[in-house]
Amino acid sequence: MIELKNVSMFYEDGNPALRNIDLTIEDKEFVFIVGQSGAGKTTLTKLIIAEERVSDGEMYVNGFKMHRLRKRKIPKLRRSIGMMFQDFRLFEDKTVYENLAFAMRVVGARPKEIKQRVPHVLSLVGLAHRAKSYPSKMSGGEKQRVAIARALINNPDVIIADEPTGNVDPEMSKALFELFMRINKLDKTVIVVTHDHNMVNYYNKRVITIADGHIVSDVPAKKEPEAAPAVQEGGTAV
Ligand SMILES: Nc1ncnc2c1ncn2[C@@H]1O[C@H](COP(=O)(O)OP(=O)(O)OP(=O)(O)O)[C@@H](O)[C@H]1O
Ligand SMILES: [Mg+2]
Repeated sequence: MIELKNVSMFYEDGNPALRNIDLTIEDKEFVFIVGQSGAGKTTLTKLIIAEERVSDGEMYVNGFKMHRLRKRKIPKLRRSIGMMFQDFRLFEDKTVYENLAFAMRVVGARPKEIKQRVPHVLSLVGLAHRAKSYPSKMSGGEKQRVAIARALINNPDVIIADEPTGNVDPEMSKALFELFMRINKLDKTVIVVTHDHNMVNYYNKRVITIADGHIVSDVPAKKEPEAAPAVQEGGTAV
């Protein structure tokens, strides 16, 4: 569970990025976060993974007390969250396979596990054929999918994707949203920051709107739609 109680966050230069945020995201929920550029969306995701610290208020993530979190607890917190960053943060000089294998190795996975898991997750995002490619030679959309694969690789409870469809065509965008829905059905909390209002309207999930550091609306999920849009690849389990 993610819970913020009257949380504010100011960057070092004094720039107030989030103000008086009250928010609860339950386990297994699917949440869209929308809002204009500079609203504070990425800042919120950075608070969740302890990349930035709460300046004021109380915040809890998966049982961790974020407003008083000790540095040595951060790796354990991050193991429970898969984050897809707006700027990807891939190792450009490592292959796709190595990027994912590295993310597993740092949390202590065994070689055998890595050998099984990496191809599985790559096929899930439709990139099985690009295992040996280098991110520097891939398109924006392909890199996005590598970043999603890395977010999934350690089977976290929470997946956060910051602007996952920024560089992709409408077909790929649909496929990515379908993938997030599928991940959510496997009982994971999914938080997607997006500007894609078509997709947000289509899925009828909970939508939190941030403007100028405040939550200005929080619309609960409606009934599930019957038909899904076209998906690019089959319904593989995570
Ligand atoms: N490292 C930083 N230092 C100082 N101010 C920052 C920093 N990062 C972001 N900000 C400021 O905090 C505010 C919120 O930024 P944030 O990145 O959270 O916005 P966003 O909603 O993710 O925008 P976008 O849709 O463009 O990604 C903005 O005013 C931004 O300029
Ligand atoms: Mg952002």
